[in-house]
Amino acid sequence: MAIQRPKGTKDHLPGTPGTPEIQAAAHAHIQHVAAQLLERAGAQFIATPIFEEAELVQRGVGGSTDIVRKEMFTVYYAGDHGGYVLRPEGTAPVVRAYLENGLKQLGSPLKLWTHGPMFRAENVQKGRLRQFHQVDYECLGSTDPLADAEAIALMWDIVTTLGLKGVSIQLGSIGDPEDRAAYNDYLRGLFTPRLAELSEDSKDRLSRNPMRILDSKSETDQAIIAELNVKPMLDFLGAEARDHFGAVQGHLQAWGVPFEIDPSIVRGLDYYRRTAWELHHAGIGAKSALGGGGRYDGLAQELGAKEEVPGIGWAFGIERILLAMADEGVPFPQGPSPALYLAALDGDYIPLAAALTRQARAVAGADFSYRKRGAGQAFKEADKKGATWAAVIGSNEAAQRQLTLKHLGSGEQVAVPFDELNTFLKENA
Ligand code: HAM
Repeated sequence: MAIQRPKGTKDHLPGTPGTPEIQAAAHAHIQHVAAQLLERAGAQFIATPIFEEAELVQRGVGGSTDIVRKEMFTVYYAGDHGGYVLRPEGTAPVVRAYLENGLKQLGSPLKLWTHGPMFRAENVQKGRLRQFHQVDYECLGSTDPLADAEAIALMWDIVTTLGLKGVSIQLGSIGDPEDRAAYNDYLRGLFTPRLAELSEDSKDRLSRNPMRILDSKSETDQAIIAELNVKPMLDFLGAEARDHFGAVQGHLQAWGVPFEIDPSIVRGLDYYRRTAWELHHAGIGAKSALGGGGRYDGLAQELGAKEEVPGIGWAFGIERILLAMADEGVPFPQGPSPALYLAALDGDYIPLAAALTRQARAVAGADFSYRKRGAGQAFKEADKKGATWAAVIGSNEAAQRQLTLKHLGSGEQVAVPFDELNTFLKENA
């Protein structure tokens, strides 16, 4: 049997009819819109390795998370395990790169963004892949609630600029570490008498990180949670975390960014404190998020920094945005189509077609045929490539140093001298 792509991965293809889920042009469009809006907000691009020391992920993402406990891809080379893993997310790598390269000198706060593939060995289902792509934004060096609100607003601006209408922001706070410790004590008190009934995963969570029980996928666990009438994390916020949360909401309201409060938000990574949120969309199922983020003021020190580097950021999953776009039927620009397509009627003129094409590329998209073509065939090819203008080159054109350009939409014909081709394309492409 022919070799197929690994389970839980996707090919993103050019020019494929049908659903945008696998269209490379839609994938590129999402990246492009995100890049533009993030760079307008002063975020600088950063790229980090696809594999990292396993310890970075263990310490960064956290030993109690499903990601570290069940979903790590370990890298082997020459039969050896070098202690590396494929990165499951972008935040710990970006913070590592910031610390390792002394990026504080670039100014504080520093806004960074990145994109690329992430890897988690998950149970594969709709929107849940083993290799997926994230766009990731991180703002390092500020504890100001303005940084939180700006991060959330940027995410909102990107999804709305893409044309998505059905997105909701679920906003919460998981407080400071001492607030969470109090909440975990409360949860332990509540769940310990029911220990025997909990799922195996949740039994384990009870000692490591009881909050994670609330996020359990087991129906029995969820029934127990409902029965116990568990108080939400928000009820346990200390004064500082409460003020911070109030200020974030105030900024978002002032900017007209809509959100709903999720009083018991649980994120799948351990580094969060205070603000945490997720973006949801009906088209991808209630259990999955389009994106999520939060504040992680303790992460730098967890990774070995001497002083605290506060941070706030988010990531969204490109494949999940594609599903949401497919669900809403949101249009997106197709891949490149040339303004000009040239073909030679005779083999002798192929070099001339090539030279004119290369000249035209200084101002517009242009392509040409490697083989001689009859006029009918040439225009058909041009049409298939989605070209705006097409022309053939034979002895007449070469002698007169002039092309007769045909507009493939209207059929209009225009005579354009070779040395005016670029000016013409600039104005009419
Ligand atoms: P996360 O919530 O784990 O956060 O992932 C962010 C987004 O990545 C998810 O909302 C989802 O769209 C996408 N995603 C995650 N896992 C999968 C998967 N298996 N298949 C498809 N898409 C997936 C983080 O990764 C944090 N680093 C976000 C962050 C940045 N927090 C602060 N800064």
